[in-house]
Amino acid sequence: MDHASLISKRSAAVNASGIRKVFDLAADLKDPINLSIGQPDFDVPDAIKSAAVEAIQAGFNRYTQTQGTGELREALAARLATRPGWEKPSVLVTSGVSGGLMLAFMALLDAGDEVIVPDPYFVMYKHLVRLVGAKPVFVDTYPDFRLDAARVEAAITERTKLILVNSPANPTGKVASADDLRAVLEVARRRGVLALSDEIYDEFNYDGDFVSAATLAGPDELILLGGFSKTYGMTGWRMGYAAGPRRIVEEMTKLQQYTFVCAPSMVQAAGLEALRTDMSGHIAAYGRKRDLIYEALRKDFDVERPGGAFYIFPAAPGGSATAFVAKAIANNVLIIPGSVFSERDTHFRISFATTEAKLAEGAAVLCRLAREMKSGG
Ligand SMILES: Cc1ncc(COP(=O)(O)O)c(C=O)c1O
Repeated sequence: MDHASLISKRSAAVNASGIRKVFDLAADLKDPINLSIGQPDFDVPDAIKSAAVEAIQAGFNRYTQTQGTGELREALAARLATRPGWEKPSVLVTSGVSGGLMLAFMALLDAGDEVIVPDPYFVMYKHLVRLVGAKPVFVDTYPDFRLDAARVEAAITERTKLILVNSPANPTGKVASADDLRAVLEVARRRGVLALSDEIYDEFNYDGDFVSAATLAGPDELILLGGFSKTYGMTGWRMGYAAGPRRIVEEMTKLQQYTFVCAPSMVQAAGLEALRTDMSGHIAAYGRKRDLIYEALRKDFDVERPGGAFYIFPAAPGGSATAFVAKAIANNVLIIPGSVFSERDTHFRISFATTEAKLAEGAAVLCRLAREMKSGG
């Protein structure tokens, strides 16, 4: 049987070749300086691990309610309740923010519907939007990665269902200013389009200027997605949450019932402990890594200073990210070309979620390559 011919058109249309090429190139490296990883390099704090283990030992291993345990939903709702209009939010515990994205798109998008995606973007947005038959409409944000309300508005058509916002952003580390975010939410409101804000990196902001979209828009006009993966190093534990319009969260819950069923039960138990855990020491350490990598690169690269997440997105010397990344990998440094996260191939992503020593080592190699290219080497 020709199994390849059995693959659905929907799945076949997902093109993962960009990232695969990078990993193919990297496969032969012995001990690479790996600046490509999209997850924290710290482990889950002990108290959170213990809470998960205790939950397992106590037999908390069965399905929970589809929408998540009452305690966790209450704890999440209490966090949101400090924001005007969000006093009694509808909350759904999801299997990661990825799960929340999938459910939101399945609940809202029909074939041909359009979703506005600021470019560069988290790679999953484009593929998940297409998987459900809808169309990503990219809004270019180069060179400073600012969310520009005028550009967003110009991309709206009668098919536009959603505007995606991601601050702090993957892959740029850009933190949207309150003014820019307010302006985009105002456009969404005026044009009758729902906004979806992916705030998985909310704790990773180093200059104190992160503003949640939920402080600027109410739950009738915004779907908010939040996570545990990055903040607590729980990427493999698969939990996040969604909050927003009651009717839409209900619909997402219905779909969760027939797909993910529920987020892992012991992780939900541990999530309560996570929400009580102070991660400021880790965040401050990541702030220092941000300074280190930015200061190391700025002399040799055209680069924006990231305000959050754990990524920096410099322009590739010579203009082709793919070519520069191949050179970097040949020199044992693993980075990702911007074409994986963008309709352009002009920049590359460095993750600074690694040790300061590795970062300094990697930056030195990249700077040397940039200087060699500039001098025609
Ligand atoms: C912007 C963004 N959203 C969502 C996710 C997915 O997170 P989760 O582990 O909660 O599914 C990631 C992970 O890289 C991300 O960068």
